[in-house]
Amino acid sequence: MSDASSEACTPKLPPLLGEIPPVWTRRHLLDIESLSADEINCVLDVAQQFKDAGATAGRRFTPLQGIACANLFFENSTRTRTSFSLAARRLGADVVDFSSSGSSLSKGETFIDTAKNIEAMHVEVVIVRHATPGTPHLLSQSLQSSVINAGDGPHEHPTQGLLDMLTIRQHRGDLRGLTVALVGDIAHSRTARSNIWGLKKLGAHVIVCGPPTLVSRRWEGVGVEVAHNLDEILPRCDVLNLLRIQFERQATRPFPSVREYALLYAMTGARIRRAKDNILIMAPGPINRGVEVTPEVADGPHSVILDQVSNGLAVRMATLWLISSARASHRT
Ligand code: NCD
Repeated sequence: MSDASSEACTPKLPPLLGEIPPVWTRRHLLDIESLSADEINCVLDVAQQFKDAGATAGRRFTPLQGIACANLFFENSTRTRTSFSLAARRLGADVVDFSSSGSSLSKGETFIDTAKNIEAMHVEVVIVRHATPGTPHLLSQSLQSSVINAGDGPHEHPTQGLLDMLTIRQHRGDLRGLTVALVGDIAHSRTARSNIWGLKKLGAHVIVCGPPTLVSRRWEGVGVEVAHNLDEILPRCDVLNLLRIQFERQATRPFPSVREYALLYAMTGARIRRAKDNILIMAPGPINRGVEVTPEVADGPHSVILDQVSNGLAVRMATLWLISSARASHRT
């Protein structure tokens, strides 16, 4: 991460009035693994400017006027789909919400044909969520439109990773040297993967923690600490990101009972009292109260779970603006 280029991507004017930062040249956002630290900081800087300019409080801007965005969601979503729609509308774009049920996919149309038909209506940005890893990458090769990955199976969820990093940055200023633990179903969580790549690029120490059946020792190979005992690592942690058990992606149950999981890994009031005074408690949502976090902690003073949701709007506005501007300026 170079401070100079991080400064260079903080334009003096609000971003919607200025040029896009030189570091940003991408017209797709497919993952965090391929982003540089400077590109990540660029999105976070622009998102922060949108937030400071009142975007998450409902202020509207028009840099995407005349542009159409399609939400193509083939898996359930509350926060991600809603915030992409709101983000696009608050930037002046037209938004189409597409869901697979009730579409011609049930009549035998292929996924790519469906996407090409939507693109033929001059949709410039396609936001896709799909259970199959790599679907956004495939679409980006088949379409002229820009593609944003809103979650591809267990692979990545880049805007979730970015909004998580923005939230930590707002509360701690700098991620360098922080210890961030991702707790829960690392094996099936796209949020885990996007966080791991992003947090490491920004200089945080990352711990993955959960039952051995859900946390592979292979993560040590990329410099991530692997732990199975939450109580042992807890006193060292600055941030805990509590990840849902992704039962829908598992063929067999990875632990004997949910009750046993909660005893070992749920963030409870008793555990908070053994943690650092300023620990941040995060979760991408949906949260399962009593499984990965108790209501006392989810609604308590350490929780920034709803800040994450607000920041999701800012990050999605930044992403939409950056990739649309890169398209418009023919940088790629
Ligand atoms: C996550 C997802 O869908 O990957 N949620 C989200 O986007 N806010 C995490 C989850 O479903 O557990």
